[in-house]
Amino acid sequence: MAKITMISGPNLNLLGKREPAIYGNLTLDDIQKNIMHLFGKDHEINHFQSNHEGAIIDALHDAAIWADGIVINAGAYTHTSIAIRDAISSTGLPCAEIHLSNVYARENFRHTSLIAPVCIGQISGFGAHSYELGIHALLNYLSRN
Ligand code: DQA
Repeated sequence: MAKITMISGPNLNLLGKREPAIYGNLTLDDIQKNIMHLFGKDHEINHFQSNHEGAIIDALHDAAIWADGIVINAGAYTHTSIAIRDAISSTGLPCAEIHLSNVYARENFRHTSLIAPVCIGQISGFGAHSYELGIHALLNYLSRN
């Protein structure tokens, strides 16, 4: 059994309503329920969403205490936040970076991820399925390390 924290950043609370052509019709609650359905029996998974950089940093610090790994969709903070990058790094935990949209097929400013260098890998472009793929990738990593 692995202990995983799944963190979603700013504006992801609006999934389902927010630009559905880009982000799909599922809500974050739908996505979390699906994750629990798929992985909740075998693993402990904690979900956290915030629109606030400091709250995400606090959640990362908490993860360092109890979790084995992190799956994060840092939203727009991916492209701007050295503080979130440093917090991920400070946990010493494996972290999978995920995005619903294919950030490389979008605006140039989305092509840079400040957190990618401190993550084990990145999944981008598979819609809600990216969350599931992120958990699979992290579990696979944990089983090998
Ligand atoms: C996102 C991509 C980011 O560029 C954007 O700011 C988001 C969502 C994604 O899941 O595709 O808020 O992280």
